[in-house]
Amino acid sequence: MFSRITGTGSFLPGAPVSNDDLARRGIDTNDDWIRGRTGIRFRHLADTGQTASDLGFEASRRALDAAGLQASDLDLIIVATSTPDFIFPSTACLLQGKLGNHGATAFDVQAVCSGFVFALTIAEKFIRSGSHRRALVVGAEVFSRILDWNDRGTCVLFGDGAGAVIVEASDTPGILSTALHADGAHHGILSVPGSVCGGKVTGDPFLRMDGQAVFKFAVRVLSEVAAECCDAAGIASSEVDWLIPHQANIRILEATARKVKMPMDKVIVTVDRHGNTSAASVPLALDEAVRDGRVRSGQKVLLEGVGGGFTWGAVVVEM
Ligand code: UT7
Repeated sequence: MFSRITGTGSFLPGAPVSNDDLARRGIDTNDDWIRGRTGIRFRHLADTGQTASDLGFEASRRALDAAGLQASDLDLIIVATSTPDFIFPSTACLLQGKLGNHGATAFDVQAVCSGFVFALTIAEKFIRSGSHRRALVVGAEVFSRILDWNDRGTCVLFGDGAGAVIVEASDTPGILSTALHADGAHHGILSVPGSVCGGKVTGDPFLRMDGQAVFKFAVRVLSEVAAECCDAAGIASSEVDWLIPHQANIRILEATARKVKMPMDKVIVTVDRHGNTSAASVPLALDEAVRDGRVRSGQKVLLEGVGGGFTWGAVVVEM
């Protein structure tokens, strides 16, 4: 028993917000700095009433349509998010309710920007075990909610959005290999170190980051896990048609591509228009490349995530 991706979908809220728009809103920044350091030109920001499950719902409907399925056909729903609608119930259950599915296994995964790669790997293992046959795997984020808009070193980097895939049981392999890792010793370099206690926020409810430490860590583990996952799939990196890394920063993408010896014209890039959408970034980029015809049936795609925790992982997929 194998598992294949049979449909993709994505959703971005509202109109693109440019770097100049952020400066006009009073953030002490400029287009030259943001573009030069990160490659980001635009991001999308959800309205105050829009939640992760709302964005996930739109992406999921598109993925279901692409796969030719109804929500009632699903027996597994996994949502990767660090910005859930509520403490509980899970965003996956809220999404399930909106989709009108009754009875499927549904739960959230928290692995920050690696969340989608973790969730896809979990879905693959459920399907390969024979316990489930049709999974919806979603990355959905409203990171704008946890940004300190007075911290120009972080607030300009992130955006909101959602991406989704349908994964189905198959006689022929689709997902060829997976690799997941974490090291909690590095929890302090990227975190939202706050909580809720007795009706009040305790600690700090905003995203905090040591940008340079994250940068170095991300490039190292993204190149290591790419090699590990290609080895596990029994392929050379030159046989990968498309690399889709977590979209954090164009310089991280370029450094990773150099290390894994892939030209940038084989790397799917959306960070320039989406910013960093955390767990949503990989499925958003995959859906864009499927819909514009770059990623085609039969091609091999290497998906990679890295994020707070620290967590990192990769999946090699034959589409
Ligand atoms: O999912 C993982 C998410 N995390 C990441 O992707 C982050 C990885 N790290 C990075 O991409 C980079 O470290 C950053 C883009 C975040 C920052 O670049 P940097 O080269 O490490 O800059 P820095 O933090 O050392 O700051 C350099 C200067 C500082 O000014 P001074 O002290 O040299 O005068 C900052 O105050 O840039 C200033 N600065 C800004 N200027 C204009 C910081 N943020 C901004 C800003 N606009 N938005």
